[in-house]
Amino acid sequence: MKPIRKAIFPVAGLGTRFLPATKAMPKEMLTVVDRPLIQHVVDEAREAGIEHFIFVTGRNKGVIEDHFDRQFELEVTLKERNKSSDLKLLADDQPAAGSASFTRQQSPMGLGHAVWCARELVGNEPFALVLPDVLVQNKPGCLAQMIEAYNKAGDKSNIIAVEEVPMERIHQYGVVGIGKGDGKTFPITEMVEKPPREKAPSNLIITGRYILQPEIFDLLAKQTGGAGGEIQITDSMITLSKSQPFHAVKFEGKSFDCGSKVGFLAANVAYAMARPDIAPAFRDEIKRLLGN
Ligand code: G1P
Repeated sequence: MKPIRKAIFPVAGLGTRFLPATKAMPKEMLTVVDRPLIQHVVDEAREAGIEHFIFVTGRNKGVIEDHFDRQFELEVTLKERNKSSDLKLLADDQPAAGSASFTRQQSPMGLGHAVWCARELVGNEPFALVLPDVLVQNKPGCLAQMIEAYNKAGDKSNIIAVEEVPMERIHQYGVVGIGKGDGKTFPITEMVEKPPREKAPSNLIITGRYILQPEIFDLLAKQTGGAGGEIQITDSMITLSKSQPFHAVKFEGKSFDCGSKVGFLAANVAYAMARPDIAPAFRDEIKRLLGN
């Protein structure tokens, strides 16, 4: 069975929901506490054993590449000032030489198209797809839980992270229908991208973490526009599910849709509360704000 070594991070989106913050800065660089969103999801992938990080970028996203490079002047200054803990922090986050790749999606043609842009970098092996808009707070992380399920599900299986949402939000997501499972992993019987509430097969949404087989690339190449006129990964997954098994993993952990302002702000609160160096003072501030 081929291990999951590579992960794709689609980071080409315009981030219009966060204007003006994202006018000159990619939305993936917005910080949750003191780490950019993209760093949080790379951390999750690294914890799951991913060795190669593939970023599908776009225009004005160069700073993401800089973020994963060394900052020579900064390092020299920190060394001169004996800031060893800051230097260690930078070194720990640094991807190994040759383990990060960047390719560009030239036009915004949808998530499926962004994934297809990474086909040459992934090659003929199963891979993870991680959407940086979604943070999942848990140890082990969401992707590590999915890889565990993948190792049990066997060769040529595909795994999707799912969670329940209130039906009034269902039309914003990919939705799955599932069969009988073991409490955590379930066979997927149906998938649909952004259905109207009455057409949704369940209240289980696709949460932004996938393990996919490389056969998806040929299907993406043939894919025409789906929901919203974009090339949707969900449509190619539906076709692939006719020849390969798809499983849903109801992961443990709290998810935050950082593509929305409220989700992003909630993530900041939750991640700050989980930091022993910040939580006590932060809790006092929140209490003061709430007036109790
Ligand atoms: C994408 C996927 C959708 C998934 C969602 C998770 O949609 O197409 O299936 O539920 O991410 O955030 P987008 O948010 O790019 O519209």
